[in-house]
Amino acid sequence: MKNFISVNDVGDINQLVAKALAYKANPFADRRLGADKKIGLLFLNPSLRTRISTQAAAFNLGMEAIVFNVDKEGWALEFEDGAVMNGSTVEHIKDAAPVLGQYFDIICVRTFPSLKNREDDYSERVMDSFIRYSGVPVVSLESATLHPLQSLTDIITITECLQKENRGVTEVARSKPKIVLTWAPHVKPLPQCVANSFAQWVNAWGGAEFIITYPEGYELSTSYTAGATITHNQDEAVKDADFIYVKNWSGYTDYGKIYSTDPGWMLTQEKLKLSNNAKVMHCLPVRRNLELSDEVLDSGHSIVTRQAGNRVWAAQAVLSEILNVR
Ligand code: CP
Repeated sequence: MKNFISVNDVGDINQLVAKALAYKANPFADRRLGADKKIGLLFLNPSLRTRISTQAAAFNLGMEAIVFNVDKEGWALEFEDGAVMNGSTVEHIKDAAPVLGQYFDIICVRTFPSLKNREDDYSERVMDSFIRYSGVPVVSLESATLHPLQSLTDIITITECLQKENRGVTEVARSKPKIVLTWAPHVKPLPQCVANSFAQWVNAWGGAEFIITYPEGYELSTSYTAGATITHNQDEAVKDADFIYVKNWSGYTDYGKIYSTDPGWMLTQEKLKLSNNAKVMHCLPVRRNLELSDEVLDSGHSIVTRQAGNRVWAAQAVLSEILNVR
């Protein structure tokens, strides 16, 4: 693995999941793999889970992790080719990235979309610039359109749950779990990254019956959703579901817009009764009693804490793959 930007960088998803679960069982199995290596975690936007879990993963592999909050502590970066830099930006990525590439063996970047200009966001100019100019492997800590470490974690968590249930041995009639991605209300326009990425990974994984449900107007790019069943009827979607992934996103077609904040789309215990005793997932942070009710988050249905815990093993598996190649 050279870079980790999307599922397309992964040869075998199940193998990577198995590697992550092996690290969960034995975190220090490769304690020396990253010895004398440095990893740079560059944040152009905030984070709790991604930042700490990637630091912990690097620690488990013996790497030194250096965090740099570019948005707060660095010079304002320019990404436009040929820009006349007479405005607020101070340093061009063409100059900054090669310098960072001299300091680090691996660079990890978090950058959010503007949600103002779809073409610009979906071009992934920021992530691509780090890949083009740094000269070292680049790992996405969430980009303008995708969140691959989150999605790998999600597949790890689903796999782990299925293994714990011994699914496939006791439930021979249902070889594939039913996984539902449902839109949830929010007060702010949020990126499509987590939803895009989850759809991309579940489709590539191929181990599920996959349904996506959202109110009209919230369609995602078919580049990621093709292969899933789409419905605007949430009750129908969650019927018999084994896993329900809750996430808000803003408009893709009418880019960055909010059409509905209908509280009827918040997942409740009542709706969960339609499911197959579903496990409820969310990438966090979650707005309680807006996206997901207290009663669901505090119930046995919720696996959000386990899911967030698995971020360490996803990051460790990815860093390990990259280190093995170098
Ligand atoms: N899920 C996730 O990426 O969390 P953070 O924004 O806290 O990193």
